[in-house]
Amino acid sequence: MATAPLAYQSGFANQFSSEALPGALPLGQNSPQQAPYGLYAEQLSGTAFTVARSEARRSWLYRIHPSAAHGKFQRLARQLAGGGLGPVEPNRLRWNPPALPAMPTDFLDGLHLMAATAAADQVSGVSVYQYTATASMQRVFYNADGELLLVPEAGRLRLHTELGVLEVEPLEIAVLPRGMKFRVELCEPSARGYVAENHGCALRLPDLGPIGSNGLANPRDFLVPVAHYEDLEQPTELVQKFLGELWGTRLAHSPLDVVAWHGNHVPYKYDLRHFNTLGTVSYDHPDPSIFTVLTAPSTVPGQANIDFVIFPPRWMVAERTFRPPWFHRNVMNEFMGLIHGVYDAKADGFAPGGCSLHNCMSAHGPDNATTRQAIAAELTPHKLEQTMAFMFETGAVLRPSHYALTCPQLQADYDACWAGMAKTFTGERQA
Ligand SMILES: [Fe+2]
Repeated sequence: MATAPLAYQSGFANQFSSEALPGALPLGQNSPQQAPYGLYAEQLSGTAFTVARSEARRSWLYRIHPSAAHGKFQRLARQLAGGGLGPVEPNRLRWNPPALPAMPTDFLDGLHLMAATAAADQVSGVSVYQYTATASMQRVFYNADGELLLVPEAGRLRLHTELGVLEVEPLEIAVLPRGMKFRVELCEPSARGYVAENHGCALRLPDLGPIGSNGLANPRDFLVPVAHYEDLEQPTELVQKFLGELWGTRLAHSPLDVVAWHGNHVPYKYDLRHFNTLGTVSYDHPDPSIFTVLTAPSTVPGQANIDFVIFPPRWMVAERTFRPPWFHRNVMNEFMGLIHGVYDAKADGFAPGGCSLHNCMSAHGPDNATTRQAIAAELTPHKLEQTMAFMFETGAVLRPSHYALTCPQLQADYDACWAGMAKTFTGERQA
């Protein structure tokens, strides 16, 4: 099998199309009596047939074997790590980076549930994972429970999907839509990163409102694969996640056998370094929603089921302003990770590969050292560099998993970073 070509189409949620063989894509209709090359036509729907056209996500796949040709799925003995949800925990939590596994571990075995807003049988909400992998997947996986947003922190990944191949490295992200079959190949000896599983409406670009027609993540920077197929008649394990549990079946062929396709229910990638970061040019620290890369709505108007927000390198020029993120208590729930460098609200304790959880109304903000430094800082323009933190923000409380509450990387003393905050109130107004 030849190495898959790395070629992409650009755009966001467009009606894309691609064919790996000339003439494989039917023209003028979706399901001809016989698709070209003896292929089977199959529709993959990511939304109900009846949703508004602007919401609809579906793709037509022209494949060697129809997906329906499989035997019974059996519940796998080895389930996802994480142990389900733990007891309710209102405390601020922070974790050191997880260690890499000593044994060969593929992406699926290395996926650890960190937190989730609800049990897996809910139709909305978010689950958050970290992955540590030291081996490429030999099996193929799809997720019936939602779309997956991958945020690599270390190690380049090659994602072999039904619709083609995506390569994604740290500082890039990839989104795999609900139901899309894929296999994760490691391009380096190990890989580590974060995953948000969106159980609700699909991720999309945020509206820009008064910002205008440009800015933040621009649609043309999103990349979608071109068709590439495996014509392999060899035993292949196909695993699905269904209501939070892993089920497997054996196929006699590779299920990554789509020769041509068209539609908008597609995997895609985005380089975070392309983000057009906006910020204040006068005073005050704006709300972090101006750093939203992707968002997915909830049933509450204006409130996301999940926002994916980044904190990229940027110029800081605000006058007479406390420049780091302010102290806050938030109705939304914030899971943060660090892909690269240092985050500007924390002097230490928040390392690349680590994460933190600040749930609804839990008070947080810059740590003691950062606060003292920011109040005393000379407010000349300076550029924050060597940094890329992110946040999965959701409207429902994220309940940590049993694993998250018992793993060795859980920090016992996170509260201490706000201890000793000096009382600077004097009762007298300074000039
Ligand atoms: Fe926050």
